[in-house]
Amino acid sequence: MFPGDNDYIKLTADWLLERTKIRPKVAIICGSGLGGLAEVLDDKTDFPYSDIPHFPTSTAPGHAGQLVFGRLEDHECVCMKGRFHFYEGYSMHKVTYPVRVFFLLGVKTLIVTNAAGALNGSYKVGDFMLIKDHINMPGFAGQNPLCGHNDERFGVRFPCMSDAYDPDLRALAKQTAKEQGLDRFLKQGVYCMLSGPTFETIAECKVLQTLGADAVGMSTVPEVVVARHCGLRVFAMSLITNIVVRDYDSNEKANHEEVLETTALRTEDLQTFIRNFITKIYDNYWVSL
Ligand SMILES: *[C@@H]1O[C@H](CO)[C@@H](O)[C@H](O)[C@H]1NC(C)=O
Repeated sequence: MFPGDNDYIKLTADWLLERTKIRPKVAIICGSGLGGLAEVLDDKTDFPYSDIPHFPTSTAPGHAGQLVFGRLEDHECVCMKGRFHFYEGYSMHKVTYPVRVFFLLGVKTLIVTNAAGALNGSYKVGDFMLIKDHINMPGFAGQNPLCGHNDERFGVRFPCMSDAYDPDLRALAKQTAKEQGLDRFLKQGVYCMLSGPTFETIAECKVLQTLGADAVGMSTVPEVVVARHCGLRVFAMSLITNIVVRDYDSNEKANHEEVLETTALRTEDLQTFIRNFITKIYDNYWVSL
């Protein structure tokens, strides 16, 4: 990130603050086919990405491209309907631009959802995986969103990542899922990010399993890194939309349609979950937010 980029972030945040009365403490990033999460908000104000100054625009199928401000009960939230992926050709700085905007809007907690393929043999399609840790594979290859000039207004040069996924939020999520009767679908594991857009080869899947990953996808990690850098509390969850192919004799092939079909089936459960979860966050954390 070159010096000056962050002033654009401020311009974007100020532009939004002038156009909505909502002052969100919680931001939600919706994954593939999960844009319906924005529907849980009342009193909505939508901003198409293309209208927001200096904001990137979304190109992936299943990603609508709107920033939605609104209320959940009395709680003010903002939701990214459609996110930016590295495989679309955006730099890691562009991918994570909205997270810094959220920070300047006053957001304290970031909720990230994605669609992921299961590497762990005990996972089933339709399961939810609470992310307890990640493997930043693009980071291994020098693609970390925090590379370059460090702006101290956002955070320190060498941020800690061993505590990236807030344990209290995960505990609240487990409780929420249990109350909703979803606990048998609930897993907790390690998410590995690959850049995509290709799905993994069989040999690559074996590597990732050996490294301790439970699920694999093409998003989330950059946003989480930047959110933790600026001190946001993070909760992230994968919807398991496919089981990765691990057998050379298998006729299964990973495809984007399968991802979208599974998310469509589970959207309602997920929406209810997010609604209950956010209410719980506000009830439990509000004093400290
Ligand atoms: C797969 O997930 C289960 C349940 O979450 C966990 O107990 C197990 O350790 C995982 N297996 C591997 C190989 O990581």
